[in-house]
Amino acid sequence: MPKPYVIRVSSEKGGVGKTTVSVNVACALRSLKYKVLLVDTDIATPSVGEHLGIRDIEKGYKEILKGEAKIEDILFAYEPLDLKIVLGSSSQTPFNPSAEQITKFYEQITKLDYDFIVIDSPPGFFIEGPARFYDEVAIITTPDTTSCVSSARLARICDKYRIKHRLVVNRSGYNSKFEMSTEDIEKMYGDVIYGMIPEDKIISESLVRHQPAYILNKSSPFSLAIEEICKGYALRIGDPRPEPPPGRRGFFGALAGVFGIK
Ligand SMILES: Nc1ncnc2c1ncn2[C@@H]1O[C@H](COP(=O)(O)OP(=O)(O)O)[C@@H](O)[C@H]1O
Ligand SMILES: [Mg+2]
Repeated sequence: MPKPYVIRVSSEKGGVGKTTVSVNVACALRSLKYKVLLVDTDIATPSVGEHLGIRDIEKGYKEILKGEAKIEDILFAYEPLDLKIVLGSSSQTPFNPSAEQITKFYEQITKLDYDFIVIDSPPGFFIEGPARFYDEVAIITTPDTTSCVSSARLARICDKYRIKHRLVVNRSGYNSKFEMSTEDIEKMYGDVIYGMIPEDKIISESLVRHQPAYILNKSSPFSLAIEEICKGYALRIGDPRPEPPPGRRGFFGALAGVFGIK
């Protein structure tokens, strides 16, 4: 059984779209028929459940870390896709897990039979302990200076621990007059932008309906961008399975079309 590919969705700054991206990437990968585990590791403000209309979770990630619950007992199956989720519990008791507790958790989940594990995380740095479990950190930024500066800082931390990272710019076009140019973001980050997700009204609708945007409308600009990102993740595990449907071949497909490649 191959080891799952672990993607940690991170940002140093809060409110840039980590949870929105995590939930929808997990749904898109699942729709492409991969076995996916989504984990909400934001202990203070878990919100994956809110995106899916699941509230009042008694036991979740925190309780697993504390040894008060077992993963198999609290694993939530999100019916529309049979997506498996470790949710955050609604208990308000503050808890600061040790590196050992987190490491133990990762040791357990990486032994499970999944193709992908998507980790939604709290803002900030990650601790050194479990860094070796991440195959890739998806650094989420919005196209403004504050967020881009903190994303560049996070990228340097990943470099220090030799963790692969790629930059995803979210809410592109939100404030187009004042947002940073692609060139300036790439210069600050030190590499090319991997994914560009537009600002999209579908997100507000998805929050009201408690349904991931990718499920609400697969053809929305947001969903198409998420799918393009997921195709890149599929390539990471050496799987060419996600064939773009005819007429929706995305940027690279369009480029191939220009050169007459089918
Ligand atoms: N592409 C997008 N288009 C429109 N609104 C978005 C988009 N991505 C995120 N948002 C909104 O931004 C806010 C923060 O998103 P969230 O995923 O909770 O961020 P984080 O997990 O980083 O704190 C939410 O209100 C969400 O609806
Ligand atoms: Mg969040």
